[in-house]
Amino acid sequence: MSEIENHQNIAKSVARAMKKKGWEITFPPTDTEEYDFKAVKGELCAAVQVKNWKRAIGVPQIRKFIEFLKLPMGDEFNRGFFVTTSDFGKAAITLAEQSKSINLATFQKNRLKILSQDSGTDVKVATNKDGKTYIGVFTCKGGVGKTTVSAHLAGALALMGYDVALIDLDPQHHLNILLPEGIYLPRKPPNLGSTINVFNYDEYDPSFKERFVICDCSPDFQNNPPAIMEKLNYCIIPTMLNPLGLNKNGHVIVSTLEKIRSLNKNAQLMVLINSLYNEKTTELIRVLKQEYQKLFKKLEAKDKRFKFIDPEECAIRFSKQLFYWGSHIYMGGESELAFKTIGGRCLPKEDFLRLVEYLEESTEIGQFKLL
Ligand SMILES: Nc1ncnc2c1ncn2[C@@H]1O[C@H](COP(=O)(O)OP(=O)(O)OP(=O)(O)O)[C@@H](O)[C@H]1O
Ligand SMILES: [Mg+2]
Repeated sequence: MSEIENHQNIAKSVARAMKKKGWEITFPPTDTEEYDFKAVKGELCAAVQVKNWKRAIGVPQIRKFIEFLKLPMGDEFNRGFFVTTSDFGKAAITLAEQSKSINLATFQKNRLKILSQDSGTDVKVATNKDGKTYIGVFTCKGGVGKTTVSAHLAGALALMGYDVALIDLDPQHHLNILLPEGIYLPRKPPNLGSTINVFNYDEYDPSFKERFVICDCSPDFQNNPPAIMEKLNYCIIPTMLNPLGLNKNGHVIVSTLEKIRSLNKNAQLMVLINSLYNEKTTELIRVLKQEYQKLFKKLEAKDKRFKFIDPEECAIRFSKQLFYWGSHIYMGGESELAFKTIGGRCLPKEDFLRLVEYLEESTEIGQFKLL
């Protein structure tokens, strides 16, 4: 049977299973790609998408479905059901739950099972012997998003249910100023909420409860205590995909890499594009990406744990929310992250959950020597 026929049969089986539970099913014209059928019950009018995949569904697929539901074409629906014969990653489950308009379900052995956020398995990333994962956000250049990325990566992990320690290594103490009380993200009972606590280096003790430790590093490398730089499992190097950034950052990134490697031979190092403009891949972006790839090809060949993240796979897009993040220190109000859902979407949530998923994808547990 062809893959398409197989997919259609599975979609029909899912429709039958929903019909049995009282849903009224309508199939759209055969060339519809965005969803498989419409299911109506009471007030609910759902677009149902069915995937017959072997691998787990990730953030990009959920993001695409959220995008569709926001298009005029998605207007008739007030709900989305994403059904797979495989399963979902924890970040994808978190994103769907956060969108408040999408339900996830698995269809295995002819049984439809609706999932909740707690059905996701733990994220599989490298850890140290103390059971914690240490992530540094570092580049020698100022103002490219170290603090923004550190705080919101912590936020994505907290949305997923983890407690996070944010260590403020920058003498400007931006994190301490922005999040003096840390952040508490409530979760649905019976779960406890997650916390993000901000520490100075000398306040932090590895016996603290947090599963993840994220360091907002100082651009001046000497300010970062070697004892913590040695512990990093991952180091994210933010940069921007614009011609001037490319011209200058090439050297900056080479020297950033040398500096990290002088203290840490094992960390997975990743160049992450921040403030990516949200237009579809234009000629300009394609050319800039190629230039970056050329620049880093040699480095990637020399250092197996250095990687330029293809921005089409994972990047932090420019968003007004991130741009104005921190305005509470001037306007009053409590510290918060740029995680508000506006018109049913939140780019920073989508992008930072994807970043967690990307860290998982780039991790082959066996390859990391435990420190
Ligand atoms: N993806 C984004 N979209 C929009 N604005 C962004 C984004 N990322 C960062 N910014 C903005 O860019 C500015 C610099 O970011 P940030 O302070 O995080 O950089 P930094 O590398 O920590 O700087 P420093 O070297 O001074 O510590 C901030 O005003 C922030 O709001
Ligand atoms: Mg900073």
